Amino acid sequence: MRITDTSDLWWKTAVIYCLDVETYLDWNGDGTGDFEGLSHRIDYLAELGVTCLWLMPFYPTPNRDDGYDISDYYGVDPRLGHLGDFVEVVRTARDRGIRVIVDLVVNHTSDQHPWFRASRSSIDSPYRDWYVWRDEPPEHPEATAFPGEETGTWQYDAKTRQYYLHNFYHFQPDLNVTNPLVRDEVAKVMGFWLQLGVTGFRVDAVPFFLDTEGVEPGHGQLKNPLAFLKSLRAFLERRSGEAILLGEVNLSRPKQLTYFGGDDADGLTMQFDFIGMENLYLSLARQDARPLASALAKRPVLPPAAQWANFVRNHDELTLDKLTTAQRDEVFAAFGPEPEMQMYGRGIIRRLAPMLEGDPRRIRMVYSLLFSMPGTPVLFYGQEIGMGEDLSRGDREAVRTPMQWTHDANGGFSSAPAPKLAAPVVSGGYSPEHVNVARQRHDRDSLLHLIRRLIERYRASAEIGWGDFTLLDQPDHAILAHSMSGDEGRMLAVHNFSAEPALVSLTLDGIDEPTKLIDLLQDGHATTDDHGRVELSLDAYGYRWLRQVSPGEKRLF
Ligand code: NOJ
Repeated sequence: MRITDTSDLWWKTAVIYCLDVETYLDWNGDGTGDFEGLSHRIDYLAELGVTCLWLMPFYPTPNRDDGYDISDYYGVDPRLGHLGDFVEVVRTARDRGIRVIVDLVVNHTSDQHPWFRASRSSIDSPYRDWYVWRDEPPEHPEATAFPGEETGTWQYDAKTRQYYLHNFYHFQPDLNVTNPLVRDEVAKVMGFWLQLGVTGFRVDAVPFFLDTEGVEPGHGQLKNPLAFLKSLRAFLERRSGEAILLGEVNLSRPKQLTYFGGDDADGLTMQFDFIGMENLYLSLARQDARPLASALAKRPVLPPAAQWANFVRNHDELTLDKLTTAQRDEVFAAFGPEPEMQMYGRGIIRRLAPMLEGDPRRIRMVYSLLFSMPGTPVLFYGQEIGMGEDLSRGDREAVRTPMQWTHDANGGFSSAPAPKLAAPVVSGGYSPEHVNVARQRHDRDSLLHLIRRLIERYRASAEIGWGDFTLLDQPDHAILAHSMSGDEGRMLAVHNFSAEPALVSLTLDGIDEPTKLIDLLQDGHATTDDHGRVELSLDAYGYRWLRQVSPGEKRLF
């Protein structure tokens, strides 16, 4: 890899920031965030170092699943603005070096979408076959994704006396991708947003979208649903050479590999690493780096253009579904012990800072990890200032509260009266009075400044996104020591999961003379002996990033 390759495969060294326009900044004072507000915060995102903005659904919607129930794929929810405002945001972002990707939610529509209204109106409707209908549900239906909120995945519709498939809420009927008209329409939706300047999509619920098991035989089965994904990727690349598909695929590693497109790498460009994320929390709970180390070590090696997306929280519950029951219970006990903190029996509806009891050492260590693990980091808005949640919302909404800009009323999110806000602002210890952007911008010791610094260093360390990952042997279970090396050089990162300071003894291969390791996050350095041995001291929950300085090294540090 040459350093100039980072501009082609931009996503391998990107900093992705996810936000919901509805809760980011309300510019017209009606209580709901809007595109105009977002356009006034593009400079904030640029200052933070964000290079790719992921916009959660902003389309017209009855809003019963935070916009993941779409009633028009070609528009903007009028509460947030209109297409003109959207284009202004994309253009302004682009000027500041930020690409925009948008949520592509095509597993299902809202039941209020005109296609579904037509589909359910009559068996003879031209739209009937756009959805998945059956006289009887299959003998062994899939379990619902939302236990406790839904009882099944097939809903009886009295008018035409058939059942329709809904892998998520009953008001989100699944589209039928075995229908070529649906497949064409999905491509058309993508083409539309690409034409308006987006650089790709975060693809919602990919395995459900491509799954055609529920479709009754005789309804033109898709022989190979993956071929459809690949055709969408090919279409994407024809329309825009730099666009990506970042897929939500919470499955085993081998299955994830298939969704990348196997050796051809012509499926999804990126996928979230759910397994790594879940094991990170197990490691934090145990103060033992081994679960995370093993999750990282077991990642399959990807073809060069594909990439893992690392995240520590998102807009959903912190799912722990890939852990064993005993492991999940450990994480629940450590970070979400109360029933009101848990959801679906598998996840926690809290943000990171409160889960770590506001301990700045642990919070900082986790973000240091996020930006130094092999892959591309994804931030969820508000993480950069350590926002908390509102458990009184009682569901995934707990973490979808308004962005906290200032200590003023409504955290500076909106000038509307509090009852009119799209979501209540967090109260208590994590309220805007204590946690807000304005204050942290002026405090060089703040979390916001640390995140800026981590981003700066991450962006100057292409090895993180591109390099070969190696776990470094050392005897302390509380320590994660890893290196990434490539044509650009080698860097290492050490993280201490324990409350005890540590001295980490490492041996770096390929070294036969004393070699300097320059600290990247602070002043200082360490020096190996002529066998590559070095001892690195770490504070409680400490972390260090170091770059190996080989003879003739020309990089800046
Ligand atoms: C995954 C999204 O992340 C989640 O928020 C949503 O409820 C489901 N897909 C259904 O669209």
